[in-house]
Amino acid sequence: MLRLIKRCPEFVSGYKDYCQELYDNNVVYFRPSNPDTLDDEWFSRTKDWYEKKERGLIDGQPISFHYWAVDGEKFIGEFQLRTEFPEKVMLDIGSIGYAVRVSEQGKGYGTEIIRQGLVIAKEQGMEKVLLTINDKNLASIRVCEKMGGKLMDTIEAYNDAEGHHLLRRLPRRYWITL
Ligand SMILES: CC(C)(COP(=O)(O)OP(=O)(O)OC[C@H]1O[C@@H](n2cnc3c(N)ncnc32)[C@H](O)[C@@H]1OP(=O)(O)O)[C@@H](O)C(=O)NCCC(=O)NCCS
Repeated sequence: MLRLIKRCPEFVSGYKDYCQELYDNNVVYFRPSNPDTLDDEWFSRTKDWYEKKERGLIDGQPISFHYWAVDGEKFIGEFQLRTEFPEKVMLDIGSIGYAVRVSEQGKGYGTEIIRQGLVIAKEQGMEKVLLTINDKNLASIRVCEKMGGKLMDTIEAYNDAEGHHLLRRLPRRYWITL
């Protein structure tokens, strides 16, 4: 059974394997931590930074909550939630960032991450979340639409990983009824 948990030392090794898989497969739609930086001190070194991010204390970064998705002992993926709507969220990263390790894709985990993530969003007091999805990212578009995402518009976007692309902005209101 998939669970979203807060980052913890026990799953750092699984997190590293997950990051490595995304890197090895050149996944551009979601960039995790560089696996080469995930040494033994990584967790304690970054703990304070992630806690500050949750409290909005990092300059230029929206408030954001980071979860890991695990199934039993197996590391599956991650879920990030931004609870505010500054320009960076509206025009680039959206309210939600999520990914499933490549070897576990296509098994329903992505859908389950979003389902559980929306419950967290609601608990955070959000009334809607925005997903910004590359027009070519058919798996994520499918997950989002399956979960009730409604297409608002399509805009042009650019970032270093994805280059120039079209971005679908999907306001997702369905979870209000959860
Ligand atoms: C997007 C992502 C999280 C989906 O995870 P997943 O575990 O594969 O998702 P699920 O198995 O729950 O569902 C995937 C759905 O997409 C569909 N799908 C996959 N590839 C597809 C394609 N090329 N065209 C159309 N549909 C596709 C699957 O059939 C499935 O739909 P179904 O349940 O109706 O059969 C995963 O592909 C991923 O990590 N991608 C890289 C990072 C990323 O893109 N993150 C999102 C950024 S917005």
